[in-house]
Amino acid sequence: MRITVCCTDTKIAPWLEGLRSALPGAEVEEWRPGAPEADHAVVWAPPQAFLDEQQALRGIFNIGAGVDALMKLRLPPRAVVVRLDDAGMSVQMAEFVCHAVIRHFRELDGYERDEAQGKWGFRKPRARADYPVGVMGLGVLGERVAQAVAAFEFPVRGWSRSAKHLSGVECFAGTAQFDAFLAGTRILVNLLPLTPDTENLLDRQTLGKLLPGAYVINVARGAHVVDEDLIAAIDGGHLAGAALDVFRIEPLPADHPFWRHPKITVTPHTSARTLREESIAQIARKLRAFERGEPIAGVVDRMKGY
Ligand code: NAP
Ligand code: GLV
Repeated sequence: MRITVCCTDTKIAPWLEGLRSALPGAEVEEWRPGAPEADHAVVWAPPQAFLDEQQALRGIFNIGAGVDALMKLRLPPRAVVVRLDDAGMSVQMAEFVCHAVIRHFRELDGYERDEAQGKWGFRKPRARADYPVGVMGLGVLGERVAQAVAAFEFPVRGWSRSAKHLSGVECFAGTAQFDAFLAGTRILVNLLPLTPDTENLLDRQTLGKLLPGAYVINVARGAHVVDEDLIAAIDGGHLAGAALDVFRIEPLPADHPFWRHPKITVTPHTSARTLREESIAQIARKLRAFERGEPIAGVVDRMKGY
């Protein structure tokens, strides 16, 4: 079995070494233009030229949860696209989002500003009931996040494409229930995949349907949010602020207004990192199962785009 590895912006040597030791007997090589055709690929944001040359691929294993970059390319017709499911990301995402929710709810940014001025001043405790948290996307990451937030006794609601029943989470599904979901949400967490249906979903209209003083936590993809609409909603007072981990252009350009906005927190796409060891173990396990003709988790539905 021949495996080709093509990962942009990734130190590739440890991936080659890890895959070779997890899949003894497989020939694992970094892709170079003109390389022989492989059976499977391990990729992150590969160039179109790679896919054009590697037309015999049967499996394309993405070293991330989101496949939006891959779905924009022309893929070899018979290749099955497989994404990471969890691989150590859901616990990271849960801790990151809980931190952002709690930082906002407990006004910790305000206390930090007070501390800088040597000021000892309590704020009136807020009621959890006034801060319902709405999680968009109830997949591998969204479900874990919703349940982690619910453990802190916030009212939690979630929205997905298909109907779900999750304990401690009020579930909404489909476009028909989107407005009802938004109308009862004061802290919005985005964990949707980026697809043609979800791109620019967080615009002036959608943000305007959230409860007054809403706070937005975007940990999915930058292109879910219309940047100018988010800033206008914050400056206009309908939104209290936002914690943004993902952006249309990454790294976020130095002159982007998000950097300097006092009510926006920026982190560099770090809420749930790909963990190499866990990911290699998962890919090797799936690859072996795939070769035996067994079903595997994380197969992307090309029609849905995730
Ligand atoms: P997933 O398991 O595929 O879950 C996606 C969820 O979104 C599902 O619940 C799905 O509904 C829902 N959904 C998709 N399209 C929808 C639509 N049009 N309307 C309503 N709901 C829709 O994905 P995941 O593993 O949880 O990952 C989610 C995303 O997180 C990734 O795609 C990626 O963009 C992002 N991510 C970010 C980081 C980071 O560091 N910032 C790290 C990892 C992942 P159904 O359940 O009904 O299908
Ligand atoms: C990171 O953003 C991922 O999709 O895994």
